[in-house]
Amino acid sequence: MAAHKVICWDCGAEVEDPFVNTCPRCGGLLTVKMDLEKVKEMKPEDLRKTQIGVWRYAPFMPVDPAHKVSIQEGGTPLYSTQALGEAIGCKNAFVKFEGLNPTGSFKDRGMTIGVSHAKELGATTVGCASTGNTSAALAAYAAKAGMKCAVFLPDGNVAMGKLAQALFFGAKVLAIDGNFDDALALARKMADERKLYLLNSINPYRPEGQKSVLFEIMDQLNYDIPDRIILPVGNAANIWAVYKACMELKEVGWIDKVPMLTGIQAAGSAPVARAFAAKEANFEPERNPETIATAIRIGNPVSGRKALKAMYDTGGYCTTVTDQEIIAAQQLLGRKEGVCVEPASAASVAGLKKLIELGVADKDERVVCICTGNGLKDPNAIIDNCAPPVKCKNSIEDVERILSQ
Ligand code: F0G
Repeated sequence: MAAHKVICWDCGAEVEDPFVNTCPRCGGLLTVKMDLEKVKEMKPEDLRKTQIGVWRYAPFMPVDPAHKVSIQEGGTPLYSTQALGEAIGCKNAFVKFEGLNPTGSFKDRGMTIGVSHAKELGATTVGCASTGNTSAALAAYAAKAGMKCAVFLPDGNVAMGKLAQALFFGAKVLAIDGNFDDALALARKMADERKLYLLNSINPYRPEGQKSVLFEIMDQLNYDIPDRIILPVGNAANIWAVYKACMELKEVGWIDKVPMLTGIQAAGSAPVARAFAAKEANFEPERNPETIATAIRIGNPVSGRKALKAMYDTGGYCTTVTDQEIIAAQQLLGRKEGVCVEPASAASVAGLKKLIELGVADKDERVVCICTGNGLKDPNAIIDNCAPPVKCKNSIEDVERILSQ
């Protein structure tokens, strides 16, 4: 395990108690400070001897691989797009398809590290609040680790595939009377009373695993650094994780410039985008977030301040896209590239299209859109926006009649 300590992101205090999720001194957000001295003697090629995936980057991870709980997460494809790029006006658009992780979203990267750390600590019960993907991932990794798992979901607002996964992997699924922010507040209370080990991204070990998506993108592009990376922003930890990975690669001398980190929110759920437009370092929570992209339907993002720093520090950007723009981008990904993503994930592509239209992004930029989750997670969002199947008699004539229409 790489040496590290947990510190307060706000006041810098070192935090010893492994079961707190905020700074005991000032209430601030926590983060992991890695000791990367040994990595400074290495080169990216030194890591390529092992299979691509989260654990290839173990020297950047604060967990001992001896406690590894893994379902072979990471190692997702980076597609160089053709027709999609033409349709949205960007010549060099790449899609990093996180929907091909074991449970179908990028959350598996954070969970392999988070649950391995929970094992290291001897935790027996883990839990999280979720808009769906975090709960699906935690339920799977808890099953693999032989731990009890409780997930707190906003009742009626979780996509069917994600709910099915949490039930299937044997988690206790609590449908909370409230939205995601309410569910997280309740899960945090349970953790504060030490009744479960919390694996939301407020736990600083979760984003550590999520750093690996950036390491992989660099590996897959042979360290030809992209100009911009675009991500959907919900609870706002993933863009922070990508930023932290960039800073660590810079610290060890493997990169000398950093992509413009760009966050996209749904128009009806956009506290971070509003703060960015006002050049604020903090955001005003949104009471009643609403969007078809239920994964990012979050009004009070825990890592919102960290996300803002990531975007400001890298010369990045933050804006919103409407539900219609999200669905249009989702369909483009399907029809032009054969890639099926869930609505929240399509926000990154919808965002790129909008940034080019606004003149914020240049059409010649090399841009990576991170598509965070698989479309099969939310079949209703797809079926509701596609033409229905055509009734057909059991005859060649009827087939030909329909195909000629
Ligand atoms: N995309 C998908 C598919 C997600 O599930 C999430 C977050 C995000 C993007 C946003 O990432 O929160 O790090 O800014 N889903 C969480 C969950 C909240 O509970 O599954 P973020």
